[in-house]
This record gives sequence, structure tokens and C-alpha cells, in this order.
Amino acid sequence: MKPLIPAEAIDYIRSNAKRGSVVCITGAGVSAPSGIPTFRGKGGLWEKYRPQIYATTMGLISTFMTEPEKIVDFLNDLYSILVKAKPNPCHRALAEMEKEGIVSALITQNIDGLHQQAGSRSVIELHGNAYRVRCMNCLKAITWEKDRIREMIKLLNLSRQSRPQLLRVLSRYFPKCECGGRYRIDIVLFGEVLPQDALKEAYRALDTCSLLMLVGTSLAVYPAAALPAYAKQRGAKIVEINSEPSDSPCDLRIQGDAAVIMPQLAEAL
Ligand code: OAD
Repeated sequence: MKPLIPAEAIDYIRSNAKRGSVVCITGAGVSAPSGIPTFRGKGGLWEKYRPQIYATTMGLISTFMTEPEKIVDFLNDLYSILVKAKPNPCHRALAEMEKEGIVSALITQNIDGLHQQAGSRSVIELHGNAYRVRCMNCLKAITWEKDRIREMIKLLNLSRQSRPQLLRVLSRYFPKCECGGRYRIDIVLFGEVLPQDALKEAYRALDTCSLLMLVGTSLAVYPAAALPAYAKQRGAKIVEINSEPSDSPCDLRIQGDAAVIMPQLAEAL
């Protein structure tokens, strides 16, 4: 069988990947083989749910006021997929590469926690985590068990016809913090500032990066999209692994399913 990764590509990666200074930026394409839809492209989340409504605070609040059942449908769809998803061979290969001392940091735009489930430790979450809630005032964070999410979705569905009842369920799961602020899901919506500690950590990881791998991301959203240029300026080589052809500026492009390519790379390095 013809190898999926050309030998020259493996050689290029081997010669540029200094141990302990390989950094990866991952996106929705890494979790697509786990059954989680990507955002853009055919079948993407934004095809079904307009991001202006479902990924902005104003859009979510105004839709909740007029058509609360739409918010319930969205949360239902999103979380029923997330709680079922399991790490795939790409997540596991990245965790293995960290354990082997090859990958030093994994910067992800994903909110699904699958890198951590696969065993990765050095995960920098730029867009938050769907299993965490955070107080909007004091920023205290609490991580939720999957069962809590299942329970919330069940109660929201039972209350879908009544806005007061929905509000009661929501305030039970997103209660007031002891500081007086209110908890919300700890994910970054459009127009919001990224968690600054995570962004700083990402830049720090790129300061000493020899090879940056962009895995399963369109890099269409800033500030994540600015990270490769920063790494490049500091001398890193950039390798992209994506199932679709792209014209992003990089030194090497490998086209294919990340769940097939990354285990091969992990074995080769
Ligand atoms: P996108 O949906 O924009 O891009 C997914 C990328 O993964 C595309 O380039 C696909 O070609 C590629 N892809 C799909 N399946 C793949 C596979 N099996 N193997 C390899 N590549 C595959 O998702 P992101 O780049 O993650 O932000 O999007 C970035 C941000 O935009 C998200 O974090 C989210 C979104 O709006 C917020 O919500 C703030």
C-alpha cells in the first residue's frame, strides 16, 4: 500500500522537529472524526445555526426572549454530540507525541475537552471549554461532569414550552456566585476577548518553537489566526495537516484526514 505521507515530508518534519519544541494548533477538523461537526464548510455548525445569533451574547439573549425553544434546540444539538464524542486516533497520537517529549504545547480552539481525555497535559484552550462554567464577575471556574450536562438538557427539553420555567432551569444550572456575579458557560463567543492567560501562554510556547503543526483548522478566526506568523518570525517551520486543499502560507502541506495522518507522523518521529 502506498504510504499516505510522502517520505520527503517525513524527512522534512524529522529534520525540523527539535524534541520538546514542537507546538500544534488544533481546530474542529481534529474532532470531526469523533463525530463533532466542524464550524465552516459543508455540514458545518454555522450552516445550521447562524453564528450572528448563536455565537454572540446579544444574539443568544434576544433569541431567548422571543424564541427560547430555538436556544434549547441549539444546546440540545451541541451537547448531545459533545457528551457522546470520544477521542480519535489524532487526539491519541498528539497525546503520545507529548508523552514522548516531542510536542511541548497543544494550542486548541476546540471546546470539547477531547485532547485532555486522550491524555494530553499541555493543552492551551484559546476558546474555553464547554464543560466549564465561569463567574462573569470574579472569573471563578467550575468544571461540570457529563451527567450534569445531560440532566440540564433533559430539564430544558421538559421546560421548552414555558419561558419562566426555562429561566428557572437556567438559573439553577447557571447560578449566582458567592461574589454576586452569575455563572455562564466558559466558551468564547464572537466579539469577546480571549482568556488572556491562555493567549499569553500560547505566545510563550511559540517563542521557542522549532516546528508548528496546524492540524484541522481553517484558521479563519483571530487572534488564533495570527499565531503562525508570530512563530514564523521566530524561525519556526510551519506544517499544515488538513483534509482540504488550502492556500495558507506554510512550509509544508499534508492533505488528508488528521485521524489517519497524525498516528503515522507520531510513529515516524
Ligand atoms: P473550521 O470549521 O473553520 O475549520 C475546520 C478545518 O478542518 C477546515 O479547514 C477543514 O478542511 C478541516 N478538516 C475537516 N475535517 C478534517 C479531518 N478529518 N482532518 C483534517 N482536517 C479536517 O474550524 P476551526 O478552524 O476550528 O470559534 O474554527 C476556528 C473557530 O471558528 C472555532 O473555534 C470557533 C469558530 O467560529 C468560536 O466559536 C469563537
